[in-house]
Amino acid sequence: MPKNMSPIDKAKYVAAKRAVSYVEDGMKVGLGTGSTAAWMVRCLGDMVRNEGLSITGVATSTRTATLAREVGVPIVTLDEAKWLDLTIDGTDEYDANLNLIKGGGGALLQEKIVATASDQMVVIADLTKQVDTLGAFPLPVEVIPFGWQTTKALIEETLVNLDVLGRSSALRMNNDAPYITDEGNYILDLQLRRIGNARQLSLVLNQIPGLVENGLFVDICDVVVIGNGDGTVETRDINNGTVEHDQIEVEETDNLFADIAD
Ligand code: A5P
Repeated sequence: MPKNMSPIDKAKYVAAKRAVSYVEDGMKVGLGTGSTAAWMVRCLGDMVRNEGLSITGVATSTRTATLAREVGVPIVTLDEAKWLDLTIDGTDEYDANLNLIKGGGGALLQEKIVATASDQMVVIADLTKQVDTLGAFPLPVEVIPFGWQTTKALIEETLVNLDVLGRSSALRMNNDAPYITDEGNYILDLQLRRIGNARQLSLVLNQIPGLVENGLFVDICDVVVIGNGDGTVETRDINNGTVEHDQIEVEETDNLFADIAD
């Protein structure tokens, strides 16, 4: 374990470490994308290498697939796996009903397909991601490059009639060029500020031609594991209404990073 781990990294790490206790031998597991999910992939790699865990992973992005291979988690395609027992992923926001905004890392399309094809979705987060109402984080939507400016205008026009506070949007950039997703698409970040009805917004957005998918995850997440910088974690299960508290020990001798090339 790196000695000077920041509190936010520790929060992400302990959430990931608690979440991998949901993984059982023989499971097919969806592997999320982002800095929190990367801790989870490293934890699983450690369990595969050092504890004999046997699992099959399905990655939600090329960068997660690369990390999974580096740490020894076997990867197959979703079509090979067909259906998954569990997906563990990060989030940009979650509310009390465990509805989410995802896609800050640009992988929302594969993340949503994989999570939807799973018996259970466990989200790993820290308290900074918790909101009363979704929408402060800009909502990412994936659009095809063809006619993207027309699609953008149509989205903004559609938002006039919906329960949101803002309706401007921006093309996500990667230096001087548009950010390109793993599926070869663009991302528009919608500055909505407050989303009054996430289900309605998600359904309406997905009716717009050229818009492939939006980053709202409504009724997909089952469990959120919230990590804190002091090593405590809270696990909320929306289906059975339970809330559990644990303390995750971070060992100085933890060999989680020993075999990982940067
Ligand atoms: C990736 O597209 C996103 O959905 C991430 O899961 C989300 O942005 C959380 O990322 P961090 O764990 O890096 O905050």
